[in-house]
Amino acid sequence: MVADLKKHWNTAYGNNDITALGWYEESPEPSLQLIQECDLSKNARILNVGVGASTLIDEMLALEYTNIIASDISDTALKKLQIRLGAKKDKVQWIEDDLTKPSKLSEIAPIDLWHDRAVLHFFTEEKDQNSYFSLLKKIVKPNGYVLISTYNTEGAHKCSGLSVHRYNKRMLTEKLGEDFKLLDHFNYNYTMPSGDTRPYIYTIFKRIHSL
Ligand SMILES: C[S@@+](CC[C@H](N)C(=O)[O-])C[C@H]1O[C@@H](n2cnc3c(N)ncnc32)[C@H](O)[C@@H]1O
Repeated sequence: MVADLKKHWNTAYGNNDITALGWYEESPEPSLQLIQECDLSKNARILNVGVGASTLIDEMLALEYTNIIASDISDTALKKLQIRLGAKKDKVQWIEDDLTKPSKLSEIAPIDLWHDRAVLHFFTEEKDQNSYFSLLKKIVKPNGYVLISTYNTEGAHKCSGLSVHRYNKRMLTEKLGEDFKLLDHFNYNYTMPSGDTRPYIYTIFKRIHSL
């Protein structure tokens, strides 16, 4: 199953120009808007899960964040992102890992921000959702932040040909539990390269208690 998923994502990135992917953002404005609300120091540890080849990394480097971690199950995606970044790739820590069976990510030092755009919704089985949230709760620092953007409950049923589990703010708040406070959220209609739109919910939480 894991090998199949990795193959799925490697094929998606390997067969397409990054800018043609159905989730490509020329500018990750909604994420940047919520990250600005976190008031992070420039050396904050920022983990991007399922980063793919996201332009968020280029933007965060341009904003002079110095402690960025980029992680994905797809080595093809990470390689494409590294090629685009060129020499700047050395300013980023790279981790290839599966969020549903994390081995390397569960060993990293605590982080100040967890950033996920369009990854959580692929975990349709409860055991995979549990792995995702257990990892998050293990590694986000007290007073750290969690940014999750995912298809909202009005959204499509599939992404990249895979079934998705859609969320609203109540569902995400329940998954995170009482240690996390919702600071802000909004719905956002993403326009795909094809011109179709996909409704997302963007949320930012702060960890107010540790485990
Ligand atoms: C729709 S893409 C979004 C990519 C990126 N976050 C963005 O906004 O451009 C979903 C990403 O999640 C990654 N992914 C899917 N399942 C994963 C898993 N189990 N563990 C880690 N990454 C995964 C895929 O390889 C892909 O890069």
